[in-house]
Amino acid sequence: MKVLVVGSGGREHALVWSLAKHGNGVELHAAPGNPGIAALAHCHPVRADDPASLVPLAVELGVDLVVVGPEAPLVAGLADALRRRGIAVFGPNADAARIEGSKTFAKDVMGAARVPTAGLLPLAKPPCVVKADGLAAGKGVWVCRDQAELDDALREAEGLGQPFHAEELLQGGEVSVFALCDGTTALPLTAAQDYKRIGDGNTGPNTGGMGAYAPVPRLSADDVAEIVDCVHRPVLAELARRGTPFTGVLYAGMMLTPAGPRVLEFNCRFGDPETQPLLAGLGGGLLEALRAAAAGELAGVAAPRTERAAVTVVAAGRDYPAAGDAGTPIDGVADAEAGGAIVFHAGTALREGRLVTNGGRVLGVTGVGDTVADARAAAYAGVAHIDFAGMQNRTDIAADA
Ligand code: AMP
Ligand code: GLY
Repeated sequence: MKVLVVGSGGREHALVWSLAKHGNGVELHAAPGNPGIAALAHCHPVRADDPASLVPLAVELGVDLVVVGPEAPLVAGLADALRRRGIAVFGPNADAARIEGSKTFAKDVMGAARVPTAGLLPLAKPPCVVKADGLAAGKGVWVCRDQAELDDALREAEGLGQPFHAEELLQGGEVSVFALCDGTTALPLTAAQDYKRIGDGNTGPNTGGMGAYAPVPRLSADDVAEIVDCVHRPVLAELARRGTPFTGVLYAGMMLTPAGPRVLEFNCRFGDPETQPLLAGLGGGLLEALRAAAAGELAGVAAPRTERAAVTVVAAGRDYPAAGDAGTPIDGVADAEAGGAIVFHAGTALREGRLVTNGGRVLGVTGVGDTVADARAAAYAGVAHIDFAGMQNRTDIAADA
């Protein structure tokens, strides 16, 4: 079987790593991939946001399955274009990807499916959360505790030039809950915890995610199953009813409020960095589940089993999240790996044979163990080996697990 993974980040490295580890002779390709992925798969120099080149590549390679990592190509219709050419895809068509691509659409679907979420406010007043409608790479959400914050948020939201809305400010712990979907069936995966702020103690600006762990001890498998019953399955049914069935990972960002779990947002893809610990702890079964989801044959398939706990600590560049880093030499990856850590590449490049930085989030150093505490110790033992000028990492990932 030939599989093409689309993307170049830590999430895609984790997907390729897991497929290589458990895939039993699967032939792996990636576009464009990264130096970590290149050790496991054939990398093709085609960007994830270039469907005009990706579709012919998939046809030429004769792949049996395309797994799309990032949201932007899905929202732009990459999966539609591949399906039109008869290629099986793990990832939703553009209509269904609107569950992530438009917050207004997501609210409308949740309303129709009676899924618990923050209520819309007819009148923006603090405390509240202002959200721009479209994809904004994490920059379209403003938590407003007072009028001054709301004034700033409204000015910035208007500046984005997209529609926006104000909703109820929810309180509680956040957790990411993933389900594999084939249009009608949803298969729960292990829940994961993401750390979005740049600084220890959840301080400073929001980022794509500075670390994550899975599973989440405070959520039992029954809790996760209940969330999938109340959230993912009704949304899947509503999307199918509208004629836009969802195939891929439906990712619910949940707030565990005193009144029960509430949806903060949906994503139409695997989380990054949550996928790294999620897949690092998996016992196998990913390829079969992805293939079955893409074929509409998930019913009766066993959910991939989580066997170990895992913790990922992101090593980011000096100016992240304001800017990326490029060309700074990276040391210590082989030592971290020799010590037992899994080092997922996120923003790296090879320059004259030397591994250098090439992005904001550079590496996802991952430890596995029997407990989250063991996995955390293994991840930080790995981080201690990694060095590049300006490297920043949080020191408290999974400390509260
Ligand atoms: P989103 O991109 O919608 O997940 O929002 C980014 C972050 O903003 C979330 O991870 C939450 O920390 C926060 N957030 C979003 N919506 C709400 C809400 N209704 N109440 C409180 N915090 C929120
Ligand atoms: N880690 C958050 C996300 O993937 O959206």
